[in-house]
Amino acid sequence: MGVSIIVAIDGPAGAGKSTVARLVAQRLGVPYLDTGALYRAIAFFLDSRNIPPVENTVLTDALSTLSIEFSDRGLLLNGEEAGSRIRSPHVDSIVSQYSALPMVRRRLLSIQRDQGKKGLVADGRDMGTVVFPDATVKIFLTASDAVRARRRYLELRARGENVAFDDVLDVIRRRDRIDAERTSAPLKKADDAVEINTDGLTAEEAAREILMHIERRAAESEAHQ
Ligand code: DC
Repeated sequence: MGVSIIVAIDGPAGAGKSTVARLVAQRLGVPYLDTGALYRAIAFFLDSRNIPPVENTVLTDALSTLSIEFSDRGLLLNGEEAGSRIRSPHVDSIVSQYSALPMVRRRLLSIQRDQGKKGLVADGRDMGTVVFPDATVKIFLTASDAVRARRRYLELRARGENVAFDDVLDVIRRRDRIDAERTSAPLKKADDAVEINTDGLTAEEAAREILMHIERRAAESEAHQ
């Protein structure tokens, strides 16, 4: 299928997207793009400068002067490493408000598409619907609320965050509601996406299922040539 393969993986928080997407990217030998990290970094940056999630000239100025780069050290905002601060429960609770703003989404669109020029596996909420509508394969990963919250809870605990399961569940539900109900690029399964529920699957198993779809798609496109 060549080097310019694009695998678009969307789904709600905690469905296992980043772990699974990373595995698929490794197997295919292409980069992995975590678009949630871009939205988290922007939310963290704006919030730490007391710029609220409102579309006005203050936001326009902040976004137009903000430099966003990918480096060996990870994501850099105005030259500063985004680091693990973007994964805190605080950022979890504010990121959807910033992500709902069309100005913010526009700022990130070309950055994401540029990364896709040589092929990649990208995960997020609008990969298959908006950012990469012509992706080679589109996957919509889901899981039940309880399973998704449990994964996020264990991840936060492992990082030493003192969180309660019910609070994590509440934040995940609130985030999904805002992400799915916003008018600009909402969380939605693309019509041509394959849905995979990861409730009873390990990340390895989900990755294998995606790789099977990719092989099937490759065989179909060869048959049509
Ligand atoms: O994938 P994540 O949970 O790290 O994403 C954090 C938030 O970023 C998510 O709640 C909504 C937003 N997001 C988005 O709006 N569009 C994307 N493509 C990726 C993430």
